[in-house]
Amino acid sequence: MGHPVLGQRAEPITDLQDPELRRLVEDMVETMIDANGAGLAAPQVHEAIRLVIFQAPTGRSDPGLAQAEAYDHIAPLTVLVNPVIEFLGPETEGGWEGCLSVPGLRGWVERAAHIRYRGQGLDGTTIERTAKGFHARVVQHECDHLDGILYPQRMTDMTKLIFESETKHWLEQNE
Ligand code: NI
Repeated sequence: MGHPVLGQRAEPITDLQDPELRRLVEDMVETMIDANGAGLAAPQVHEAIRLVIFQAPTGRSDPGLAQAEAYDHIAPLTVLVNPVIEFLGPETEGGWEGCLSVPGLRGWVERAAHIRYRGQGLDGTTIERTAKGFHARVVQHECDHLDGILYPQRMTDMTKLIFESETKHWLEQNE
C-alpha cells in the first residue's frame, strides 16, 4: 500500500501473444498460491496492466445453498484480461476482506451481491460469468486494483479495519 502503481488506473492489454504476459501470469499464480490468497491483480506486482487472476473454491461457498445458486459461488483458477463488471441489481453484501498489498489486516467491505463479469482468457476466448457470494466479492476486489482502489477505500466503518491476528477475538466480542 502506497506504491504508486497501486494508486493508478492500469492500461488495457492489447497483445495477448506477448510471451512476457505468460511469464507474468505464471509468477502471479505462484505468488497467489504461496500467499494462500484468493486473487491477485497485476498492479500488485507493479505491472500497470488490466489483468487479474482469482479463484473461488468450493470450500468457500456457503453450505446449504441450492445447487444452481452454489454454482455461482465457485470459480476455477481464472486468468482474466481487460475485465468489465456489471452489477445485477442494487443489493449489497458485507464481508471481511484481506489483501496481499495490505498485509496483516482485515476489513469489512460492502460489495454488490450479484454481478456479471466479462473479459478475455489468455487464449483470447471470451469469458463471461455471473457471480454471487465470495466469487462476486473476489472479482470486485481484484478489478478495483485495476482502477487504483484498495479495499480500505471502499470501507464505510473504519472500526472494522482490524489486524488479522485480532479477527478471532473481534468475532467473539461482537457476535
Ligand atoms: Ni487485493
